[in-house]
Amino acid sequence: MKTKKIVVLIIAIVVIAGGASIWLISSNNNSNEQKKIAIVYFSATGTTKKVAGYIKELTAGDLIEIVPKDKYTDSDLNYNNSNSRTTQEQNDSSARPEISNNIDTDSYDVIFLGYPIWWGDAPRIILTFLDESNLSGKTVIPFCTSGSSGISTSVNYFKNNYKNVNWLDGKRLEPSQSEVKAWVNGLNY
Ligand SMILES: Cc1cc2nc3c(=O)[nH]c(=O)nc-3n(C[C@H](O)[C@H](O)[C@H](O)COP(=O)(O)O)c2cc1C
Repeated sequence: MKTKKIVVLIIAIVVIAGGASIWLISSNNNSNEQKKIAIVYFSATGTTKKVAGYIKELTAGDLIEIVPKDKYTDSDLNYNNSNSRTTQEQNDSSARPEISNNIDTDSYDVIFLGYPIWWGDAPRIILTFLDESNLSGKTVIPFCTSGSSGISTSVNYFKNNYKNVNWLDGKRLEPSQSEVKAWVNGLNY
């Protein structure tokens, strides 16, 4: 009789512990399920746009382009000219080029923020976006494309100047679907 009770008790413990661990595993896997995601990006020549499109496919987030009021022409983008628009903007820490479209981030919990690297940093129009948005308490995940420069200078600036945002470290990405997939799938947000 006593042995029977012990066996029943052991079975009960195994069933309860098993159920609890299944619940724990599934709740971890589904941590992104309720979160609303946007991919906000600026791209002058299409590379960052391509990466943003891959992230949209992987996350089913909403794609939102930052559109400059004055489009960047080829001569604006000439980094060999010290008088070009981009050189002047990047040399002026207070420059905030105007955005033409209304970008409403209120309903999103997680925002991927993409941009090309210009002179080692984020284009000033990204700061226009950050100044004009209330991202308090939201998780923002930066990503960039570049010739070779990394993302850390821009992310350190964001972390130091927009402290009410939950910044993830972000990554410089090649416009490669497999690289973007490996990165996105490894994120914990
Ligand atoms: C004005 C300007 C400055 C740039 N500065 C850098 C730089 O400092 N380091 C770098 O690796 N690439 C630099 N690049 C290259 C771009 O970051 C790269 O081509 C990027 O992928 C372009 O993205 P987009 O097509 O989305 O605009 C620069 C490009 C431009 C137009």
